[in-house]
Order: sequence, then structure tokens, then C-alpha cells
Amino acid sequence: MSRIVYVNGEFLPEEEAKVSIFDRGFLMADGVYEVTSVLDGKLVDYDGHLTRLERSLAELDMPEPDGMDALLEIHRELVSRNNLKEGCVYLQITRGPADRDFLYPETPKPTLVLFTLAMTLRRSPKAEKGLRVISIDDLRWGRRDIKTVQLLYPSMGKMMAKHAGADDAWMVENGHVTEGTSNNAYIVTQDGTIVTRQLSHDILHGITRAAVLRFAREAQIKVEERPFTLDEAKAASEAFITSATTFVTGVVEIDGVQLGDGTPGPVSRRLREIYLEEAAKQAV
Ligand code: PDD
Repeated sequence: MSRIVYVNGEFLPEEEAKVSIFDRGFLMADGVYEVTSVLDGKLVDYDGHLTRLERSLAELDMPEPDGMDALLEIHRELVSRNNLKEGCVYLQITRGPADRDFLYPETPKPTLVLFTLAMTLRRSPKAEKGLRVISIDDLRWGRRDIKTVQLLYPSMGKMMAKHAGADDAWMVENGHVTEGTSNNAYIVTQDGTIVTRQLSHDILHGITRAAVLRFAREAQIKVEERPFTLDEAKAASEAFITSATTFVTGVVEIDGVQLGDGTPGPVSRRLREIYLEEAAKQAV
């Protein structure tokens, strides 16, 4: 059975959904997106994703598409029509179709697309085993705080990891880790402090990150928001990533160096449990 997707005001079978070849999302990567996870048929951290989406649009002077005021209902309708229990809703807004020109069109008609992806999130085998990551140079543009659809370098990074027999890559700039290809990166020092890069234009302001740091502080775990080096990461007692689809997932190896006993560490396991419990409680 095919999925029902949403495109510019209509719910349609995926085969019938169409976007123009002149869409600036297609021609210029002139688009932004959000990924909201679904647990037990409910949306996790919805308000956070909506707030970041509005910020991404504002940073790019991209007008809001029709349907913006009904986004929650559209998400819920898609989840319900696809009978989605666990997975995510992907949302993308682009500046819409226009004759090819580097300048933004004067009267843009933004495109709004949403679709669901069924995924196993809670009982993910990757989360149970932990991830092996490699380090790569961070060659992305300088506004990583805007969640744009320019994902070619992160895709290349995941391919580099795959070819190296690893699960993912952490990106490094000026000797310090920025973030993972599609997640925020953390280490736990030998004295139990969580270290993660501070918010700036260098990284995406993860919605899961905000919640996890809040839970960590509430659990009296010390948190330092500052850049950390790869050497510090390799000497850490544990490491982990966060994102909407991985929640909190332990990292057990960096560039072939094993962390701890090679399984997800106690801090990451505890934070994953807390996050899952709280996220499910607050889901809408
Ligand atoms: N990626 N950093 C980057 C570069 C990301 O692409 C993501 C999310 C995150 C984590 O953000 P959040 O906690 O809000 O999901 C950090 C999504 C999941 C994706 O591209 O599929």
C-alpha cells in the first residue's frame, strides 16, 4: 500500500504527488526541513521543531507557505492516514518554482511537502550496540544553524563512514569536533562531565540537544558547552549523539579507538531512558 503524502494543500498517494522541475528546492537547494519523531502515534518535541522551522525561514527571508497555520493538524492527519505508530514525519519548505535565477523571485510561491517514514526508534539495534564513528573534515557552509536541505556533504560523510566500515562520521574544524553528519556530538569526561559544543552558526541547534541537556542538568550531571578536540573525545569515558531519530545513542569507537568497555556508557544509557520516558509523556 502506498503512503499518503501532503503537497501544497493536498493529501495524495505518493505516486501522484508532484513538485515542479523549476522548484528552487530542486535547482538551488533553496529549502529548509524538519524531522519530527513519532512514538506511539504521537509527535515528539513538536513545538521545538516548529520554532526552529520558523527561525530557518526567517534567516533565509523565505515566506511561510499556505498551510503553515495548520501544520500540527497536517502532521496529525498524515500520521493517522498512514497509521504510523513509530517513525518520523519529514517536512520540507522550499522557495517554490521560479525561472532559474540566483536572485530570489519577487513573488515566491513556497512549496510545502510532508511525508511519513516508518522506523524502529525505541528498540533500535544500533542504539543497543553503540555506534562506531570516524572523523572527517567539516567542509560544510558557515550557516549550519539553518536547517537547509543542502545535505550533500553529510551524505558524503556517511558514505565515507560506510566505506571505512563505521556507522557515522563526526566532523572536525580547526581541531575541534563540530557535530555528527546528522546529529549533535557529546563526550563524557573521566570525571563525569558532559561536554558538547556551544550553540553558534557552526552547528545545528538540535531540538533533542536542548531537551537532553535540560534533563542532564535536572539529574545533577555537570554540563559544559564548549568545543572539544578529537584527542579529548578518544580519551573520554564515553560519547554519544542526539537527534530526533536516534534520541540519545552511545558512541563506542572513534577512529578505531574504543571508548570504555566498547558498549554504550552509563550516562548515555541513562539519558536515553530519561529522554524516551519524557518525550513519550510530552508527545502531542
Ligand atoms: N538531523 N545536527 C545535524 C547536522 C542534523 O542534521 C541534526 C538532525 C541534528 C540534531 O537535531 P535534532 O535533535 O533537532 O533532530 C544535529 C535530522 C534528524 C535529519 O537530517 O534526518
